[in-house]
Amino acid sequence: MDIAILTLFPDMFAGPFSESMLKRAQEWDHISIHLHNIRDYTLDKHHTADDTPFGGGQGMVMKPEPLFEAVEAALAEVGSAEGQETPVILLTPQGRPFTQAIAQELSQYPALMFICGHYEGVDARVEAIATDSISIGDYVLTGGELPAMVIVDAVARLLPGVLGDDMSAVDDSFATGLLEGPAYTRPAEYRGESVPDILLSGDHGAVDKWRRQQSLKRTFERRPDLLDTADLTKEDQAYLEKLKAGDA
Ligand code: ADE
Repeated sequence: MDIAILTLFPDMFAGPFSESMLKRAQEWDHISIHLHNIRDYTLDKHHTADDTPFGGGQGMVMKPEPLFEAVEAALAEVGSAEGQETPVILLTPQGRPFTQAIAQELSQYPALMFICGHYEGVDARVEAIATDSISIGDYVLTGGELPAMVIVDAVARLLPGVLGDDMSAVDDSFATGLLEGPAYTRPAEYRGESVPDILLSGDHGAVDKWRRQQSLKRTFERRPDLLDTADLTKEDQAYLEKLKAGDA
């Protein structure tokens, strides 16, 4: 997957993209990251990327011209990958809230482009060149760089081969519509806390059932809102009734 990132701060990406899974994903050619410095597309000799807002008010607004130029140049590089239109995603607190489902949707494209906004925002005309806008949560960051990294990370780990074990993304929290339950490793006892016996039993059927119940319990306790849309079996429903009654 080709990933173009338009930013005023390309150096911010060096750390996260040169460690761990994202590093490996690039080395193994699962993803190819193209960083474009928006300042390189400014049209004046001072390389002005922002200006004061029309009508007055606080802060600066990113100018439209460098962003249009940068998007067009970056699209020329990745644009028509396999004939599919490349999503051009504006990162903004006013975007649609990012979810695992959106990560899955984005992972289907051969190329993605991210526009990292800064200052008080970007000139509203830039929305015309973006095909999507995404927020990573109901809080305001100093720019779209961290959101772009978050989304690239969430998408890259879904690409075939990136996690090594293709199954590891299947049971993720949210992929199943539920939170994942607890996991344990050696030692079997640590500071007086023991790993649940069932995990040491070797009974795979019982372990699967326990895991499902732990997943339901954690979701019930921490994110009951997810239960409204999760895919639940009759057995799941019965277990949830027990949890509600306080006898599980
Ligand atoms: N830019 C600033 N805050 C943001 C957020 N929460 N999500 C996406 N982009 C942003």
